[in-house]
Amino acid sequence: ADVLPSQLLELAVAAAREAADLVARGRDGAGEHVGTKSSPVDVVTAVDAASEALLVDRLLGARPDDGVLGEEGASRDGTSGVRWVVDPIDGTVNFLYDLPAYAVSVAAEVDGVVRAGVVLNVATGELFTATSGGGAWLAAPGRPVRRLAVTGPSALDRTLVGTGFGYRAEQRRAQGEVVARLLPRVRDIRRYGSAALDLCAVAAGRLDAYYELGLNPWDHAAGALVAAEAGAVVAGLPGTSPGDPMVIAAAPAVAEEFLDLVAELHR
Ligand code: IPD
Repeated sequence: ADVLPSQLLELAVAAAREAADLVARGRDGAGEHVGTKSSPVDVVTAVDAASEALLVDRLLGARPDDGVLGEEGASRDGTSGVRWVVDPIDGTVNFLYDLPAYAVSVAAEVDGVVRAGVVLNVATGELFTATSGGGAWLAAPGRPVRRLAVTGPSALDRTLVGTGFGYRAEQRRAQGEVVARLLPRVRDIRRYGSAALDLCAVAAGRLDAYYELGLNPWDHAAGALVAAEAGAVVAGLPGTSPGDPMVIAAAPAVAEEFLDLVAELHR
């Protein structure tokens, strides 16, 4: 595909900003909707679907030959070599509870490789962006834009670890057991509730490492590029089944040890 990552990023940011406005308005009205009959899940589903529809409309409106993959079912093969991978609200449960960690995530793959990514925290307005080779950036309201560069600790017992749990009960049980064994080995554990923001947190030095089993592409596509471009080691875990891919991002000095430990605990 004959397009620059920076051009894809520009389009992704514009679409994500519009979607974030829509999600924010949906959040404001969420109480009323619950009050009138719709179940809380219905509210989320309606806003999710509307946000995804808007993203698809803006992205494919500008680039009609592209493909798209979205959490709410958008799926289309394009002919241009570019495919958009979108999560209209990553952190749906946080959205529902008004916990300020839910994001619109938009990634652009070129010939199957993610080249541009945007994660926009709807509640805080923090905008994380990255292009392959162009670095990772954070634009926070009222603060100068800054380039993200991971430093992080050099020992596992000073590593603040983020993780998350998929929605399948059996997988949650197994993950709970792994966490119980991981916790005594690291500084502490956080469960933020949005995989996209977890990966950006590694990029911003708010977490030193993050791992999760069973993520979907829309959860990690943009955030993983942000983490990698900030200098985090991003890897899948060898030996996990293709249906349950594990995504790991960690500060360079602890990455190998962390990866080995997580692999050992999952055996
Ligand atoms: C979820 C969040 C959560 C993670 C789950 C994801 P969603 O995405 O990223 O943090 O633990 O695995 O499914 O459902 O809120 O878009």
